Amino acid sequence: MRFAAIKCFRESCPIQKIIVSLHRKYCAKAGCTANNYQTKTNMRQRLFYLFVLATILASCSGDKVKYRIGISQCSDDIWRDKQNAELRMGAYFHDNVELKFAAAYDSDERQVEQIDSLVNDGIDLLIVAPNQVQTISPAIDRAYDKGIPVIVFERKTSSQKHTAFISADNYEMGRVMGEYIVSRLHGQGTLLEIKGLEGSSPAIERHNGFMDAIKDAPGIKVVGSLQGDWTEPTAYERTKQWLANHKDVRVDLVFGANDRTAMGARRAFQLLTQSGEAGRGPLFCGIDGLPGENGGIQLVRDSLLDASYIYPTHGDQIIELAVNILEGKPYEKETLMMSALVTSDNAKVLLMQGEELMRQADRLDQLHHKADNYLHELDTQRIVNWLAIGIIALLIVIFVLFYLYHLRKISMQRERVVNTLWNMEPQKASPSPSKGGDVQIDDATQNSVSSGNQTSPLEGTGEASPFLSRFREAVEARLSDSDLSVDDLAADMNLSRVQLYRKVKAVTGSSPVELLRTARLNRAYQLLLTTDKSVSEVAYAVGFTAPSYFTKCFKEEYGMVPGDVRK
Ligand code: FRU
Repeated sequence: MRFAAIKCFRESCPIQKIIVSLHRKYCAKAGCTANNYQTKTNMRQRLFYLFVLATILASCSGDKVKYRIGISQCSDDIWRDKQNAELRMGAYFHDNVELKFAAAYDSDERQVEQIDSLVNDGIDLLIVAPNQVQTISPAIDRAYDKGIPVIVFERKTSSQKHTAFISADNYEMGRVMGEYIVSRLHGQGTLLEIKGLEGSSPAIERHNGFMDAIKDAPGIKVVGSLQGDWTEPTAYERTKQWLANHKDVRVDLVFGANDRTAMGARRAFQLLTQSGEAGRGPLFCGIDGLPGENGGIQLVRDSLLDASYIYPTHGDQIIELAVNILEGKPYEKETLMMSALVTSDNAKVLLMQGEELMRQADRLDQLHHKADNYLHELDTQRIVNWLAIGIIALLIVIFVLFYLYHLRKISMQRERVVNTLWNMEPQKASPSPSKGGDVQIDDATQNSVSSGNQTSPLEGTGEASPFLSRFREAVEARLSDSDLSVDDLAADMNLSRVQLYRKVKAVTGSSPVELLRTARLNRAYQLLLTTDKSVSEVAYAVGFTAPSYFTKCFKEEYGMVPGDVRK
């Protein structure tokens, strides 16, 4: 748990940021310094932090260290779409991996900028398909020199500064396609080649392989070699232009460096067929051989292309390589992916297989989304649980504090009353006749009974107050008499009821009834402390007829119930 929290703090968890800023605001307000922090941070605030800490731990403990992988694609097309989907799929198998994509749309400048910005964003590893060999190398070198592992895939750079390289063999693909074309034309015919983007390694290598394959076939003649850039519109425009300039040149087969290029050339040739220029319907071959709608395999099956060559995307394999590098596991420095020619002989089967694979991948994707949603729900649930635990813990702490406060209050009360009773002990100096009562109250003593904010019933009477002494004796003598009335007390003291009331009120500020009640309760308190009589017995012993009323009066007087005296 502690480990998770540290990670969370290191990763600048947003919740933590909020807490820290709250805390700073509090400290600023309270004028905290590092030295007086402890004293300024009161109990309530500490409890609040405790609670918040539990919440942070709950919300962040699920976070794992993330490997942020930057992916710099030189282009954006159906081949890259398929690969990006596979890269994402590959990342599903590693819940500590996060991918950041950037597409340069065939622009060198944009790709350089994007790589620099990925590096500045703090990626842990860079996967890059460089648009051209020379132009992107400086940006890749910068990343590599900063200690970021670099995987160059599919297209090469001029620099050796990369951690690993993964691709299919583009030279071999051009060569195999050349051999196929020679055999397809039975060693006799004319070719038009449309190359890939100048300066990009697959374009160079495919061309070289292709030329090497046909150089030994004297009956094959290349009538034109056009510079393409991998895109269909450029191939269309350049072919259209070439055809306009070479009206009488017969073309038996067009080799496009990729399928889109081949299809662009095909569209240009179709224009001529539509305008009635017969005899100009060559075969078209490309490279990529993608499965799915309008992919190379389908184009071959539908005879729009004569052949293609599968250029493997294998994004999931690239992620495996990346994770191995990041986790310090063994990995291949150079991986060549296997590939195959697509012709009318195998296109149908390959298409079926490809579509099945895509269907499975789609299901996997759906499954992942489901699992993702489930995990999110689980996360929310966990936060709710921790909040609930936090609230319960907080309530327990509050309850315990309240209970401790209550105990303290009772013990203070007890101390105060014990003091009072102590002061009521009989004094040798003024022995008084006690008729059956243990407690004797004299005026002098009662003067000192004032303790805390309680006032003794006989306070302020002066040391020599014979009247009060007599009054106390009269009260003490009949304390257990529940029928004792003020009239009785007055009669005992040979006074009228009114005279007694006035005198008592004048010297004590209290009425005789109030003093009688206080005396009963004081006696009860002492009995509770010094005897093992039950509460009811004590109540009766001090002249209460109903124990419940006694308990009520006792609580009003001492702030606790009689039972608390013995705790
Ligand atoms: C995709 C693509 C493919 C081609 C490859 C060459 O962006 O243009 O069609 O085979 O790149 O790098």
